[in-house]
Amino acid sequence: MTTYEKYSKYTIPNYGERDFVVESGKGVWLYGADGKKYLDFGAGIAVLSIGHANPRWVKAVASQAAKLAHCSNLYLSKPHADLAEKLVNKIGAGKVFICNSGTEANEALIKAARLHGAAVSGAEGKKYRIVTALDGFHGRTLGALAATAQEKVQRGYSPLLPGFTYARYNDLESFEKAMGDDVAAVLVEPVQGESGVTPADAKFLKGLKKLCKKYNALLLFDEVQCGIGRSGKFLAAQKYGVMPDGLSMAKGLGGGFPIGAIWLSRKYASLFKPGSHGTTFGGNPLACSAANATLSEIDSKNLIKNAAEMGERLAKGLSNIAHGHSEVIKLTRGLGLMRSVLFKEPYSNADMCRRLRNAGLILIPAGSNALRFLPPLNVKASEVDLALRILEKTIKELKK
Ligand SMILES: Cc1ncc(COP(=O)(O)O)c(C=O)c1O
Repeated sequence: MTTYEKYSKYTIPNYGERDFVVESGKGVWLYGADGKKYLDFGAGIAVLSIGHANPRWVKAVASQAAKLAHCSNLYLSKPHADLAEKLVNKIGAGKVFICNSGTEANEALIKAARLHGAAVSGAEGKKYRIVTALDGFHGRTLGALAATAQEKVQRGYSPLLPGFTYARYNDLESFEKAMGDDVAAVLVEPVQGESGVTPADAKFLKGLKKLCKKYNALLLFDEVQCGIGRSGKFLAAQKYGVMPDGLSMAKGLGGGFPIGAIWLSRKYASLFKPGSHGTTFGGNPLACSAANATLSEIDSKNLIKNAAEMGERLAKGLSNIAHGHSEVIKLTRGLGLMRSVLFKEPYSNADMCRRLRNAGLILIPAGSNALRFLPPLNVKASEVDLALRILEKTIKELKK
């Protein structure tokens, strides 16, 4: 049986039809089982922040695997302690909790919000509402799903976890209307990723900060996709100059190893008490070594600066292509190395994605009709230029 046939026969069909079998990767290049190489500007959906098979990462993971892959959270390990120290130094005074994925990190934030609400109102069930943004994405577990205000993601799972109210992104008035004394937190992505890469307005985030203060609610940022250098700063929050009370991270943190984390500011770092939250795998030495190597590579190679510079180059190139082909591309937007192009009907992102892959460029569909550019943070100028050339050539061929 082929890989495709085994998938069809043995895996639950929650991802729909796929036929592209991948075999290996090196840097920004992904190699398919078809023997072809592809410029990987999807990076595993913003995960491969230092590219495929980065030598520092490979060495760290292999040597930690040979030494100690896992220990229970009844014990301490140096990689876990080192990662916590690194994250706090990069983010600010506070503490972190390490878990395994983005959705799990958001679950922890939701629980932190409930603990905060109970603490300040004096009872459970009085102040637990969380306001999130329409078209946001926070994950697939039931808590994160209730926070994800998208009908297509929630369909089939009602009754959802109660206590969520949705407001319009980048619309402070809409959030103002949703607030009340029973609100424990506001949770938003500083750049909405899954719905097509929509950056927040700085004014909006600053306004949310004020609103949260007024209602004694936590301001929480989901930086699962836009964090870890992708915005051109370590956090998008730092790019905007608006620090939340807590935030979630995942994707780019492990450089390909599954890991997630939350950070809570000093004031809220003790919301969780012994026994109030936990995970078997979270913080294990192997995952933390992968994250430590990823962060060391980002620091030692100045990759956040590179992300800012390459992001500008990509933005300019995309904008030129959008102007030259305005009958195909509606707009382009984003921040740092998180960009998208939105196609005009009848052009579709699914069709464009297939054509671009055939031409050697991998992008990720998003929203209703967009494609995302999320290359590794160490992408080179020549690789950005090549991606732009492939995009323009593919559009020209399509128009013929
Ligand atoms: C902003 C955001 N939050 C949460 C998640 C969920 O993360 P995970 O798939 O690691 O559970 C995602 C995944 O795409 C995301 O983009």
